Amino acid sequence: MTNEAPLIEVKNLKKYFGEKGGLFQRNVSVVKAVDDVSFQIHRGETFGLVGESGSGKSTIGKSILRLQSITEGEVLFDGKDVHKLSNAEMRNLRPKIQFIFQDPYSSLNPRIRVGDAIGEALLDHGLCEKHEVASKVKEVLEICGLSEYHMNRYPHEFSGGQRQRIGIARAIILQPEFIVADEPVSALDVSIQAQIINLFSKLQRDRNITFLFISHDLSVVEHLCSRIGVLYLGTMMELGSREQLYSNPLHPYTKALLSAVPIPDPTLKRERIILKGDIPNPANPPSGCKFHTRCPFATERCKVEVPEFKEVESGRFVACHLV
Ligand SMILES: Nc1ncnc2c1ncn2[C@@H]1O[C@H](COP(=O)(O)OP(=O)(O)O)[C@@H](O)[C@H]1O
Ligand code: SF4
Ligand SMILES: [Mg+2]
Repeated sequence: MTNEAPLIEVKNLKKYFGEKGGLFQRNVSVVKAVDDVSFQIHRGETFGLVGESGSGKSTIGKSILRLQSITEGEVLFDGKDVHKLSNAEMRNLRPKIQFIFQDPYSSLNPRIRVGDAIGEALLDHGLCEKHEVASKVKEVLEICGLSEYHMNRYPHEFSGGQRQRIGIARAIILQPEFIVADEPVSALDVSIQAQIINLFSKLQRDRNITFLFISHDLSVVEHLCSRIGVLYLGTMMELGSREQLYSNPLHPYTKALLSAVPIPDPTLKRERIILKGDIPNPANPPSGCKFHTRCPFATERCKVEVPEFKEVESGRFVACHLV
């Protein structure tokens, strides 16, 4: 880690989804998908965001890339507020910030050859001449473990793992500085997951890309991420380095998530915490600490008082009354 200013700064980000309804058109059901979240991503680092489904991970990823508006807060890219950029400034930024989807198939047009799908963004952004596109596409296909031969094929001719390689190729051909990878291996078989994780490791090694890597699976982020944030119902519960989190999780929710991850070394033991019940309705989250309905250590205080997200050691933040 360096002393340079971070590439990404998320400051008190809020994203609420609300439906107006009723006699007075009041917001009847507001989902606080992201509720006052702050973190930074340093240049060249891979930051992991974990949490159960519905915790707000994708909403944070899309908000950072301005794929949707935000309710409150700031997202700084290289010191500039992304949500305040003009359209022209945003057009310049677009190729530098890319998104890799869980299912790249849904974003690939079934009637467009893969080579054209990967190359079109280069032309759209005016990043190269038409006659240079094919050689650039070939180059990124090879980096991503595919070959020139695949350029003339259609999306349906590829396996899930290959489609994810296409999604990655399409992102990196623009030579982005920052990529949000949203559950990029969650839809794949475990053996294929390992191959795609290896491809991400290679990109980390060979290219100076900064990543936000989103996953509901802590064993996946452990391989790739130097720092990790743990989300629950739109709130960051714990944030720290991989070493801090995996060797000594402090928040009961992190402990619970980790206790579900198998440890390869049988001599090591982890405190086993089984989460009770389901994740509550985000339109009506629990009072006080949002985790209190499932926390084995909850006290009366937890039901009424929101725990502060505080720095408990250098670079380590936890929101829990017990810590
Ligand atoms: N476009 C939307 N409109 C209304 N609610 C949404 C929208 N997108 C997400 N949500 C809600 O916001 C919460 C967080 O969703 P999401 O960010 O997709 O979580 P995750 O990626 O962690 O599964 C969920 O309750 C989800 O239903
Ligand atoms: S504040 Fe209370 S309910 Fe929340 S995690 Fe800590 S002990 Fe559990
Ligand atoms: Mg998601």
